[in-house]
Amino acid sequence: MTEGRAIDWEARYHDGATAWERPGLHPSFVDWLETGALAPCRILVPGGGRSSEPLALAEAGFDVTVVDLAESAVAAQRARLERLQVAARVELANLLTWDAPAPFDAIYDQACLCALPPATWPGYVQRLHRWLRPGGRLFALFMQTGSAGGPPFDCGLPAMRSLFPDPPWQWPATLGNPVPHPSGRIEQPVILYARS
Ligand SMILES: C[S@@+](CC[C@H](N)C(=O)[O-])C[C@H]1O[C@@H](n2cnc3c(N)ncnc32)[C@H](O)[C@@H]1O
Repeated sequence: MTEGRAIDWEARYHDGATAWERPGLHPSFVDWLETGALAPCRILVPGGGRSSEPLALAEAGFDVTVVDLAESAVAAQRARLERLQVAARVELANLLTWDAPAPFDAIYDQACLCALPPATWPGYVQRLHRWLRPGGRLFALFMQTGSAGGPPFDCGLPAMRSLFPDPPWQWPATLGNPVPHPSGRIEQPVILYARS
């Protein structure tokens, strides 16, 4: 898939071409929950797909909003939450045009940025900043592919430092260890603070 062509996410779900899906919760997500880095708050999960993190967040007491443009993923996410009688909002929308009704304390981006064509990244990052309250945090998992094309598009660290400059994004002094992805790639977990 090249950057300039539309990406049909619904077709990928329909065809079972979902190599990004993990069998369980993301290890960095579990770590952030266990250490309290992620503590109950109003949180957005952009491009949440069918991942199980929104359910885990809602069960842990977070006020969760999921946004995704794939109808079947939104339906699956809603059905799971309803079946388990867990409250969360799941919106069918394009993140590149959607706007948050109120600021979030946190955003959990798991394989969403890398799913978007890089030409859209600057606009998406502006939106991320706008959706967060001042001092809010972006929990990002930067997919490292080391190759051209996508999705997933390579979220190499030099490019990410340019895309999320300080200000308005405050980077940690040291980065956590990269985490293997079942696809054979690795993801770099990073928590970024949104300065006002
Ligand atoms: C690589 S998948 C990751 C899904 C999920 N976060 C996970 O880890 O399983 C990317 C997700 O982003 C969604 N997506 C891609 N572009 C989008 C856009 N412009 N607006 C909303 N959702 C989008 C896709 O439908 C898909 O569910």
